Amino acid sequence: MMELQNPNLKQRGRASLDFLAQMGMASAPVSQKVTAEINDRLDTDNLPDDLDEREAAIDNALSDSTAFATQRLMGDWHSRSHGRISWEAFEEIKPELQPVLDATTKGPASLVLDPALKLPAYWDGVHFHRTEGGWDAHEHMGYVHGEIIHKKMVARFFPGGIFKQRQNVAEMAPRDSYDRILDMGCSSGHFTTALAKTYPDAQITGVELSARMLEHAHRTANANGWNWKLYQRAAEDTGFDDGSFDLVASYILIHEIPADVVEQVFAEALRVLEPGGDMIMSDATRYADLDKLSVWKADRSAKYGGEPFWRETASLDLAEIARKVGFVDVTADGIYPHVVKGRKPE
Ligand SMILES: C[S@@+](CC[C@H](N)C(=O)[O-])C[C@H]1O[C@@H](n2cnc3c(N)ncnc32)[C@H](O)[C@@H]1O
Repeated sequence: MMELQNPNLKQRGRASLDFLAQMGMASAPVSQKVTAEINDRLDTDNLPDDLDEREAAIDNALSDSTAFATQRLMGDWHSRSHGRISWEAFEEIKPELQPVLDATTKGPASLVLDPALKLPAYWDGVHFHRTEGGWDAHEHMGYVHGEIIHKKMVARFFPGGIFKQRQNVAEMAPRDSYDRILDMGCSSGHFTTALAKTYPDAQITGVELSARMLEHAHRTANANGWNWKLYQRAAEDTGFDDGSFDLVASYILIHEIPADVVEQVFAEALRVLEPGGDMIMSDATRYADLDKLSVWKADRSAKYGGEPFWRETASLDLAEIARKVGFVDVTADGIYPHVVKGRKPE
């Protein structure tokens, strides 16, 4: 029987995903050329502070650049096409996969979807990553995103591996063991998996807005014999009692939500932690840690890659927010991922 996770794609789907992954890597020399042209044409130490003005200044300086036009075309095609191509690869394996999908709806994990949940306007219907329909685009979006987009494409862009990064973050929590862990924005369960492997004795709970992502997390847990409790709830309003967890964690949730919601999420993490409990949140590189040109690169790629809240959240000082809501012993380190930790006072 076919495995649920990391499936062998059919030849056509595999070739298409290889093409997408290689195209991402092949764009590196084009980006280098663009950077060289910017350095030739502009004083990069004195680019405008305002990010819109900075973008306009660079657009203007590169208006006749073939490298810049090519970079835009490649990026645009990649962003718009990866969802469809991954869906087509899934369709080819679906007949063989269906019995596995059916079988893994049963097992030790539990899933509570809430059809009455009022989905926040910043999330509902937003075409994140330029995927039509966003996180809940179609019935099998959880599988397509978790197993195909992430494992067959995104993972190949990150030397060292984004799965290894998740494992590293899970291991950065201060204690060697926890009893009750909450993963905020658990999506299809990749970071939840790292938490489960690191803290095998903990009861792990995940909250997530997307029903389709949760369904795949549920199948993943069942396939591995994990008793995760999964809920369709917002990270800023989890509904759990005060003091329900000894660790609250998240991996790359923050850039998916507006800046004011980030503070609400941190406050909710504090509320649901027991006194003395730990928080560890991780996300993208802070703009404050980058030079002006690198910020332009990150900002541009987020804007055209369908990340509506990247700019406002990458500009946040997460340690300051953690302290503001009441965490103590706060630390914030790392370029990617940037990791903020704190403890709820006793
Ligand atoms: C980039 S994914 C996170 C991935 C996951 N933690 C992992 O390691 O793969 C972000 C997830 O956050 C979810 N999300 C966005 N806003 C949320 C919110 N307010 N509450 C809970 N989940 C949210 C999205 O639906 C998406 O599945």
